[in-house]
Formats: sequence, structure tokens, C-alpha cells
Amino acid sequence: MELVDFVALWIAALFLCLWWRYWSVTGGGRKNLPPGPPGWPLVVRAHLHHADGPTNPNRGDQFGADPRGPGPERPALLVPARRFPDPSRVQCGKVCHQLGRVRATLAGPAPELRDGADQSGPDPAVRMDSEVGHGEPHLTRLLNEATEMGHVEVMRNCRLTICSVLICLCFGAKISEDRIKIIESVLKEVMLMTTPKLPDFLPVLLPLFGWKMKEAKELRRRQMECLVPLLRDRRAFVKSGGDPKTSSSEMVSPVGAAYIDSLFELKPPGRGELGEEELVTLCSETINAGTDTSATTVEWALLHLVTNQDMQEKLYEEIVACVGKNGTATEEDVEKMPFLGAVVKETFRRHPPSKFVLSHAATKETELGGYTVPADANVEFYTAWVTEDPSMWKDPGEFRPERFLTGDGVHVDVTGTREVKMAPFGVGRRICPAMTLGTLHVNLLLARMVHAFKWVPIPGAPPDPTEAFAFTVVMKNPLKAIILPRQRRRVEDYSLMEKQRETWIGGFPCQRLNYMPTSMVPSETPLYLVEFRYAESLLEIWVVEDFAAENVVYLELRTTPKRNDSIGMSKRSYMEAVVEGLRAVNTVEVDLGSPDLSMESPLNSSSISSLCDGTARKKICVRLLLSLDRRETTASAMETVKLALEMRHLGVAGIDLSGNPIVGEWATFLPALQFAREQGLFITLHCGEVPNPKEIQAMLDFLPGRIGHACCFGEEEWRKLKSYKIPVEICLTSNIRTETISSIDLHHFVDLYNAQHPMVLCTDDVGVFSTSLSGEYVLEGAKCFILHGTRLNLYFSDDVVKQELRQIFDSAARELDL
Ligand code: HEM
Repeated sequence: MELVDFVALWIAALFLCLWWRYWSVTGGGRKNLPPGPPGWPLVVRAHLHHADGPTNPNRGDQFGADPRGPGPERPALLVPARRFPDPSRVQCGKVCHQLGRVRATLAGPAPELRDGADQSGPDPAVRMDSEVGHGEPHLTRLLNEATEMGHVEVMRNCRLTICSVLICLCFGAKISEDRIKIIESVLKEVMLMTTPKLPDFLPVLLPLFGWKMKEAKELRRRQMECLVPLLRDRRAFVKSGGDPKTSSSEMVSPVGAAYIDSLFELKPPGRGELGEEELVTLCSETINAGTDTSATTVEWALLHLVTNQDMQEKLYEEIVACVGKNGTATEEDVEKMPFLGAVVKETFRRHPPSKFVLSHAATKETELGGYTVPADANVEFYTAWVTEDPSMWKDPGEFRPERFLTGDGVHVDVTGTREVKMAPFGVGRRICPAMTLGTLHVNLLLARMVHAFKWVPIPGAPPDPTEAFAFTVVMKNPLKAIILPRQRRRVEDYSLMEKQRETWIGGFPCQRLNYMPTSMVPSETPLYLVEFRYAESLLEIWVVEDFAAENVVYLELRTTPKRNDSIGMSKRSYMEAVVEGLRAVNTVEVDLGSPDLSMESPLNSSSISSLCDGTARKKICVRLLLSLDRRETTASAMETVKLALEMRHLGVAGIDLSGNPIVGEWATFLPALQFAREQGLFITLHCGEVPNPKEIQAMLDFLPGRIGHACCFGEEEWRKLKSYKIPVEICLTSNIRTETISSIDLHHFVDLYNAQHPMVLCTDDVGVFSTSLSGEYVLEGAKCFILHGTRLNLYFSDDVVKQELRQIFDSAARELDL
């Protein structure tokens, strides 16, 4: 190349650069455009629309206006930025009135049509039947997930619930959860398909993206496939004047109450009724617009409630004060909960689901903040910056709901009519048409979720507040939390959970699952219980509060450390969660026997009457027994024993062998049990649940601290048991209900009692066997109290605790004149 050519090329490149630069800032030379962001246009544009772009808090500082927008044929402006002149703040609302809005949708209707349709959009005052979504189905799903996984994922569950409510709102139909799941996932794909792609910025690349178009068409086909049947069902229902027989879906909204009913009647000027394609698009947009926004808000709110337990308790107390412990929060109730309202508003402020409103477009040249917005320019409003501005909000980065009760948020107008201090729903003519409904969903969901469960972080996996863009600004790592049911009665109502348990029980030939040997005095008198209990999952932790309420002073809780690699749960993290759950109990004082606590009296030495009349704060001493499941290998059993040894200072007292009695060999667990005993751990074995003389003999020869059940003993086994004086845990109700023993009179309790054999009386799982501690002891009367008062040495606790228990029993016996 000649030198002259090289210089010419270089000068041409320079001119090109300068031209690009000029174009980038002025939008092609038009007068008085807002200043654009510095840098090379393509690079800046790509960066601007990069998936993480909208979550970048400095974005408002970095970019003033971007007159290049999604496609060179249509300039776009990004407003407002911090360096945008002040007046734009107040003008923002006004300008919105002057700007039409364009949205990229898959085969969506023309903008004029959308305008008409939106005016008749979802009625904010629509009242949803709680059975459709927010209520029991939602809570039951959470509970089932927690039962299965040990924790719940908030976003996925909330999306599903809100989606089901919005499907009902659009089509007036209640459909199965499986169908909702399909619609939800298809609509989510539709939404993600409409986010900006490379050809939106460089249309020249469009031919290379033919496959994307194919994908979009296929997705559209699926979208039609899952929504058209609902649409046709509804049309038939409306045409018949509300005859339920005309539709295959269960119609729960009367004619005229569903969103689509109003769309059926719509006749845009110059054309006829809307076709199925348009109806599906409009309903899909409504469902999409409401699902992610509301679910995201609940997720962010719960993040703060999980990490700030005091805040959660304050909210819980407000809910209880309004609806009681067993009531159900309704739409009217949530309006009477100022703190709940403040939590939700603060979530909208601190975590607006969308930091931008939808793309707006100037229909004619407009003045904005002293700059000119040309006709046809796309305008992207970055609304989140107002809530990040320290001149508008004190400590804007902090999450402080109280600011909406007594601080800088008290008189804030969320609609932005008077001033724009926050704009989670946008402002002006195109403000979210379902603002009231969306706020109601969030309030109701949050109230019901906090009312039903205590939300605690997963130990070792604290929530991560990093943001990510997925249409709305979501948590990059979705919020997962442990839920502890607040009320026993509520939990028992969940029939599905009961069903699962029944299935589980059905798998056992002898139906012996778990048991709670207890000692107590008869009912109708102050109760002092000593209790052993098997906890099959973290959800059982709430029993601690219930037992304390019945004046249980000592509780042995059994749990099987579980490992689940797919969710990163190890036996250790499982146990840490159990301990965390116990520590989260705050209605009673839980003593896990940590060294510092052993200095004081571990049990409550307050007078008996003050304990029973509720004037003294209750204290319960809890010891943990780690169960080996009979399905485990020797190595896995050994891992549990080592974990138990490491967690001794956290209340772990011993090892239990349990599980399906026809599974596994005694020899598999022997090494781990021997090691546990050598290290000083207490041992109890489920023994003789099925007739298996060889194993029963081997277990008795092992001389465990206690055995459970002993239902299928032969003569030789009884003889051995009595001569070895191995204490027996007995469970009357479950043995009778599961027909392991035909009647109480025939129960081996009688024989053991007469032989003065050491034993403790038990109840089984109160939920499964419909029994209670009091009921269990009524079966045997006061003698149980005397019996167990003398058997305190059977409990797997240290001497300090036993001494305290002795005092309590003696004192109770004196007061009760026994
Ligand atoms: C927490 C809940 C919600 C938030 C934060 C929210 C936020 C927003 C925002 C920021 C916009 C854009 C406004 C603009 O472009 O200026 C919008 C529009 C929209 N929202 Fe919502 N929304 C929520 C709930 C809902 C619900 C439950 C529905 C449906 C039942 C819904 C339906 C719509 C529709 C149809 C539009 C488009 C309006 C138009 O085209 O002019 N939103 N929403």
C-alpha cells in the first residue's frame, strides 16, 4: 500500500469516527437532544442493553440519553439520569401523557388496538377467590416442598400461585395445577423471547437469526395451544349465559367478571371483533405483566424478613393481632395492617421489580427537561434512580419499612401524581392498570405466608441479595428458606401431607414409625411431662413450642440426618438446620445443653403454679438423638455417629436405630453403634417391630440404653429382656391403632408393669394417630406418673438435668398429693 493510500484511509477512518461520535451524541445532528453516553455507538448500545445493564445502579450516572435505541431506524432516549436537569423529575409524569408506548410482542396487535384494549384492562377491584391461589393451595404446596426438600424456593412457588390467580382473572376458570404449570412455563418463555436480541441492535444480522424466528413461531404455536381451549371454553360459557355444562373447565367467575369477557365485546373502530390470536396475546400479556412483578416483590420482601427475624416477628404479631392465630387474612384485613403496608412499600422502593418502565415512544416532537425529544424516538425511562437518590431518601440503600410509618416515606405518592419520589408502577397515562390488584396480591401473599410459617435462613447458605435481570430484577440466586409451621392445627389441616404420611405408614408391615415415650401426670391436673420424640423432618421442630405449652420440661427429639446432593444438603447442613430451627423457637426458652447454660439450672425451677398458669416463661430442655436409617450403609451410619460426637455441645445426646424394620441387616450398623457407645453416646434401638428372633436376640445382647416397641417378642426374647433389665419405650395408641396389638389389656405394658420392668410410656405421632399426650396418659392414670417419676434414670440426659427433673417430679407429686 502506498503511503498516500494509507494516509487517505487513516483520514477516512478518522472522519468516520467523528461522524459516529457526533451522531451518537446528537442522534444524527438534530437539535438540542439530551446528551448521549460517551463511547462507540455499537459498543455502548450493546452494553446498554446487556442483560445486567438494567440492574446496574450506576447506569443513571453513566448514561444521559441514548439516542440510538433498539434499531437505527428508531432513535431512543434514556431518561432520566442523575445528570439530567432537575425539572425532568417533575415533568416525567407529564411527558408520559404525551408519549405513546410501543412494545415488542410476538405477533401482538397494533398499538392503537392495544390502547383500546388496555383501557378496559383488568379491574383493580377484582376480588379473587382465595381458593384459586393465595390461600390453602399455596401454603400446602410450600409445606409439601419443605417436607420433601427441607426448604422451599420462594420465587417459583409465588410465580405459580400468582399465575393461577391471573389465569382465573383472565378466563374466569379454575384449572389444575399441572395445566397452570404448563401455561406458566410457556408464558415465561414468551416473555424472555421478547427481550432485546442482537439483531434488534444490528438488523443486518437478522438473516443469521432465522432459527430464532423458527423458535419464536414454535413458541407461539404452543402458546396458542395452551390458551385457546380456555378461551373457547369461556366463550361458550358466556354465550350460554353462564351455563356451567357448556364448558369443560370449572368456571368460577360469573359472566362479565373475567377480563376476556370485556375483550369479547371489544370492536375497535373500522374492524370487527378481536380474533383468537389477539385475544391470546392480550391475556398472555396481562398474565405475564402481573406474574413476575408481584412474585419478585414477594421474594425481595421475604429476603429481608428472613434475614431480619425481629422485623418478621413484628409483622407476624401485627397479623395475629388482626386475624388471630388461627384466622385467615383477607383482603379487608390486610388494609388494616400498617406495618405490612410499610414492608411492601419499602420493597417497592428498595427493589422495584422493574428499574425501567416499558419502552415509550414520542408520537410528536416533545420538550423534556429543556431538551428536544424527536417524534418517533423510543424513550426508556429509568425510574429506579429516584429511589436511590440520597437527596430524596435518607439512607436510600437501607431497607427500613418504618420510614413509611414515621419517616421520609409517610406522604409519598406511589402513583407519582403530585411528585415522583418512587415509581414502581410507572407514572402518568400508561401507569400499570392493575396497580391496586398487584399491591393486593403482594400484601395478601406475604400476610398469609408469614402467618402460616416462620421463615428462617438455611444454615450455611444465607440468602444472597445479588440482583439479576430476568424481565424483572430478580435475586440472582433465588431465595430459599426453611419454613416452620406456626400453628399445629393449621398443619393438621393439610390433607395432602397427611396423605403422604399415610402412604409412608402403609409401607411398613408393622406400621411402627416413630414414638414418643412420655411420662406425665393424668390430665385435668397440672402436667409435667418427660418426653421422647422422633422428628421425621425439620418441620417437626414446631412441636417444641406445643410440648412446652403442655408443660413438657424435657424433650428428646429424634431426627435422621439426611443428605441430598442435588440440593447441596449434607448431613451436617441438615443438622445445622435442625439446631437453627430450635434456636429460632422464641415463645419458650430452649436449652440445648450448651456448656454455658449448664452453669445455671437447665430447667425451669419456678413454682409449679406459676408455670401452669402461664405467668412464668417456660423453659424446655431438648436433647437430640440422631437416627440411623436402616437403609444406610456402614459408612453412612459411621458418618452420622461422628457428626453426633461433633455436635454434642449442641444438645446431641445419643443414637437411635430406626426405619423400615424389614430393610437392612443388624450387622451393617453394629460397628457404628459400638463406636458410638465407646465414645459415650446413649443408644436406643427400634427392636422387635417384626418377628425376627435372630435380630432381636442380637440387639438385646448388645445391651442398648433402651429399646423401642418390643411388639413381636417371643418367650425367649421376653426372658432375655427382663433378665438384662433393658428399659422399654412403649407406645400404646399407635400399637392399638396399627393393630400390632389387638387391645390395651393384651398389651405387654401390663406384664412389664407388673414385673416392675423399667419402661417409659409413649405416644406415637400425634398427627397420624390422633392422640395427645394427655390422652395417652389418661389410658393408664396416675400410676404412670409415679412409675415414671421413679424412672428418671432412663432419660438420655446428664446428671444436672436428671436432678432438676427429680425436683420437679417430687414437687409435683407433693402438690398433687400423689
Ligand atoms: C407488584 C406488582 C406490579 C408492578 C410493580 C407492576 C409494574 C408495572 C410497570 C412499571 C408497568 C409499566 C408502566 C409504564 O410503561 O409506564 C406496568 C404495566 C402493565 N402492568 Fe403492571 N405491575 C404489577 C402488577 C400487575 C398486574 C397484577 C397486572 C395484571 C393483572 C399488571 C398488568 C399490567 C399491564 C397490562 C401493563 C401494560 C399497561 C400498558 O400497556 O399501558 N401489572 N406494570
